[in-house]
Amino acid sequence: MKKILIAIDGHSSCGKSTMAKELAKTLHYRYIDSGAMYRAVTLYCLEKGFFNDDTLNIEAIKQSIGDIHISFELNEKTGNSDTYLNGENVEKPIRSMEVADKVSPVAAVGFIREAMVKQQQAMGKDKGIVMDGRDIGTVVFPDAELKLFVTARPEVRAQRRLDELIAKGETVSFDEVLKNIEKRDLIDSTRKDGPLRKAPDAVVLDNSDMTIAEQNAFLLRLLEEMIKNRRRRQFIPAPIASSQ
Ligand code: DC
Repeated sequence: MKKILIAIDGHSSCGKSTMAKELAKTLHYRYIDSGAMYRAVTLYCLEKGFFNDDTLNIEAIKQSIGDIHISFELNEKTGNSDTYLNGENVEKPIRSMEVADKVSPVAAVGFIREAMVKQQQAMGKDKGIVMDGRDIGTVVFPDAELKLFVTARPEVRAQRRLDELIAKGETVSFDEVLKNIEKRDLIDSTRKDGPLRKAPDAVVLDNSDMTIAEQNAFLLRLLEEMIKNRRRRQFIPAPIASSQ
């Protein structure tokens, strides 16, 4: 079957990436985590000392944006793709609380978004990818054949994120994680450039009370439905041109 683009947008920590990875594996597509790209830029800013507490030195990052190259490579051990910042594997440090805390203001900067969107569009030019983020169905791939908008209640998302962080050995409280999630939701959905929005043609999925298996079953049904509709469309004759 002809390869398509699948855009998955939604709130942070709502399981978008688990879903996107699963979908990519099923379809033998490439999975691209666009949030990892903003996280990698944030890590770069932290390493270069571009932050003064919470304030980002915009001029400094503007000078350096052309030097930031992000790529993804398959990790043979985990079977997932790892994020590389200028050739260095940064998969672990970009998932830290420190990066999570600073990433929203970085992702709100117009020229940073422009640079990332360009790289994302280049990655999708041959289709056959599942990309997740906030603006994939609205800005990056407005013509994506399948768009999903995923969400879950903030408390549910905070608990999922907390479990992940504890598993990684970070010491953090539920309240801290919840506050971080609420802060990110607000910045992500109110920023001027590429705000988090549901594309008008996106399918909404609230997975607050769903297991991974239920979610996978939902996605499978959706894909089957889509394939059926595409086949049906191919058999519909083109409308006869009006003689007037
Ligand atoms: O999905 P995530 O939590 O890893 O994303 C990290 C941050 O990057 C989050 O604050 C939202 C932002 N982001 C974005 O602005 N646009 C995207 N396409 C993906 C993520």
